[in-house]
Amino acid sequence: MNIAHRFFTVRTKPFTFLIKPLMLVIFSVGGVELALANAKNAAVAQAAPDEHVYSDASSNIMRRTIYAPDPKMDAFITRLISKMTLEEKLGQLNQLSGEGDITGPQSKTDYLEAIKAGRVGSMLNVFTVKYTQKLQRQAVEETRLGIPLLFGYDVIHGHRTIFPISLGEAASWDLQAIEKSARVAASEASAEGIHWTFAPMVDIARDPRWGRISEGAGEDPYLGSLIARARIKGFQGDDLSKPNTILATAKHFAVYGLAQAGRDYHTTDVSDVELWNTYLPPFKATVDAGVATFMTAFNDLNGVPATGNRYLLTDVLKQQWAFKGFVVSDYTAVNELVPHGFAANDKHAAELSLNAGLDMEMVGQLFLGHLKTLIQEGKVKESQVDAAVRRILEMKYRLGLFEDPYRYNNEKRQAREIYKPEYLEAARDVARKSIVLLKNKNRTLPLSKTTPTIAVIGPLADSRRDMLGSWHAAGNWDKPITLLEGIKAAVDPSVKVTYAKGASYDFFSKDESGFAEAIALAKEADVIVLGMGESGRMSGEARSRTSIDIPGNQQKLMRKLKKLGKPMVLVLMNGRPLSISWEDENIDAIVETWFAGTMGGNAIADVLFGDYNPSGKLPVTFPRNLGQVPIYYNMKNTGRPHVPNGEYTSHYLDAPNTPLYPFGYGLSYTQFRYSDIELDKTSINASGVLTASVTVTNTGDYDGKETVQLYIRDLVGSITRPVKELKGFQQIELKKGESKQVAFKITAHHLAFYRQDLTFGAEAGDFQLFIGGDSANVKSAHFSLGESIQY
Ligand code: NOJ
Repeated sequence: MNIAHRFFTVRTKPFTFLIKPLMLVIFSVGGVELALANAKNAAVAQAAPDEHVYSDASSNIMRRTIYAPDPKMDAFITRLISKMTLEEKLGQLNQLSGEGDITGPQSKTDYLEAIKAGRVGSMLNVFTVKYTQKLQRQAVEETRLGIPLLFGYDVIHGHRTIFPISLGEAASWDLQAIEKSARVAASEASAEGIHWTFAPMVDIARDPRWGRISEGAGEDPYLGSLIARARIKGFQGDDLSKPNTILATAKHFAVYGLAQAGRDYHTTDVSDVELWNTYLPPFKATVDAGVATFMTAFNDLNGVPATGNRYLLTDVLKQQWAFKGFVVSDYTAVNELVPHGFAANDKHAAELSLNAGLDMEMVGQLFLGHLKTLIQEGKVKESQVDAAVRRILEMKYRLGLFEDPYRYNNEKRQAREIYKPEYLEAARDVARKSIVLLKNKNRTLPLSKTTPTIAVIGPLADSRRDMLGSWHAAGNWDKPITLLEGIKAAVDPSVKVTYAKGASYDFFSKDESGFAEAIALAKEADVIVLGMGESGRMSGEARSRTSIDIPGNQQKLMRKLKKLGKPMVLVLMNGRPLSISWEDENIDAIVETWFAGTMGGNAIADVLFGDYNPSGKLPVTFPRNLGQVPIYYNMKNTGRPHVPNGEYTSHYLDAPNTPLYPFGYGLSYTQFRYSDIELDKTSINASGVLTASVTVTNTGDYDGKETVQLYIRDLVGSITRPVKELKGFQQIELKKGESKQVAFKITAHHLAFYRQDLTFGAEAGDFQLFIGGDSANVKSAHFSLGESIQY
């Protein structure tokens, strides 16, 4: 077999800042330069113009590194392709599922036979050194050309050590922590033979009925783009040939999150400007960050299913964005072009999707079955197949698999890597950073570690498996620390911690047999801690709901417990925004913990007892009730914005327009006061830079972390613009009594958007700028842009 050699050239462009004297720190977040300095010492960083609104110089470095030109690779692959029969080429486009997990309809193919026959290029749902090695051996030693297999798996929020679900991690707004989580996942997964993860999911989602809202970064394209980039950096690192880095996947391309009525796999229909301004930016950010692969979405977009959508896969992705990796379909998504009513039969589906720009087919095997005939009939060009094969082989080459197909198969490394103490510690750290304090009446929290008796109640309080949420990859179900265990481990040995499941989260449960025990324990307790919410499998794929209330009879039990008049803390576990208006009115403290992962119980206890002062902020709006959905912070103003008592204005008769908790919201045990905004000028031209700053003061009794958020509103546009758009944020640590100045630097580029004709530019006029601790509670100022500019 040919042995190829890798020659990576890392071309880094120096990231230069113009630093003025005494400046403390300057950060770059998604193109908005954030200068954080002590008051009086504020300074300004000079930004290089971005290629795109949500990309920056560091993205471009990542992309250039991953896709560094490699003439040796090109020559090697050209030679290899010239030796391949058409059948062998089609084998490379074929991905089959193993037995590691079932993530879709099962296929009955004997994959070992198929691998030996050269009919498989990649396997999913296969992991462990032993299993991957066995399959790799078939491919490398039993086939004519010995082309190694690529092993893919859904390593979404951890592989063995499970981190909080992706939506939870997004609530940390901590890009380094999120990158670290992906890095740990890549280290563990690669040690078990995996080369490729089907993550990050970068679908913008604004409908909590859709269970997959749990898998993304929430509702905002800016935050979503930065998180996507952090995850890619974590998974792929800066060198794919290192045995601890894996390929990432941007999925699901595109607009999957807009599923009608929140029902999974359902139709989507979106205007061009909305597509480009809201749904595509995170995908573009992944291309800029050098993502290795894309996955098509299941849905139909504006009448054309994404898996057969030439506009998306070729015109936008491969041509306009110059994406050089390969595109895999979602699971049997090519076959599904038939029930979509887009392809007449399987053969037609293969033709449409290959010609649309799909490179690899997951599970359906229609490429394998039909492309040969389609080529003979002149409906598909062999050159298109060659181009797809090349993209796939390039990734195998960049991973170093031609050099050593077993480089990810090392039993000793596997034993060393899994559940390393430092990985568990990282999972605990990310989990506590993901927790959002939603309510804290009368400073119920933090609890004292010497509270004499604590009653822990609820179906999620001591359930290991639920802690993992959806997509727990290879995470052992018996490994997670539960809430009950976390509390027991945190408190003084003198504390009596009692537990009752009490209620059920099953949708239609009427079983109240556990109520009496729970009430009896609660009566004896000084504080009641409720572990309630959704089961771990109520969100994720195919997990849509028509109600976003807390399921089962959990609220019924809460109402009874409320009558005891004891302090109550609700520890929520869930994969979507829930409507918790009753809970907000009646429970003293509410802590959103999502599904916090392997170390969840410890992380939650860190927050409940004040070892960690909560700092999470919601990456998605929590509605008051389902009738408000879709509700998101960056909506439009309408021609009749609501005014109090304005009958014919845009509003509801039976509920306010405002959400229960807005995007960006999250409390701390301390309080932060924001000064008015100071602008260094009130007008800029197309090349100008405006600095907006506030002073944030910690006025409470604890040291704490605050996420200072910058929003902008373009008051008049050639198309209507959102009432607010997140354009930057900065996390700062403030000791009690301490003040810090936070400065954001804004250029015309940050004001740009896709117009009706899909040009990207900023339009001269007036803008409002907001800075605050969430999207609703902000200070505001005005400035203007003197001239329009198109990028
Ligand atoms: C279907 C899901 O939509 C996708 O996200 C996942 O990566 C594949 N199945 C593989 O399991």
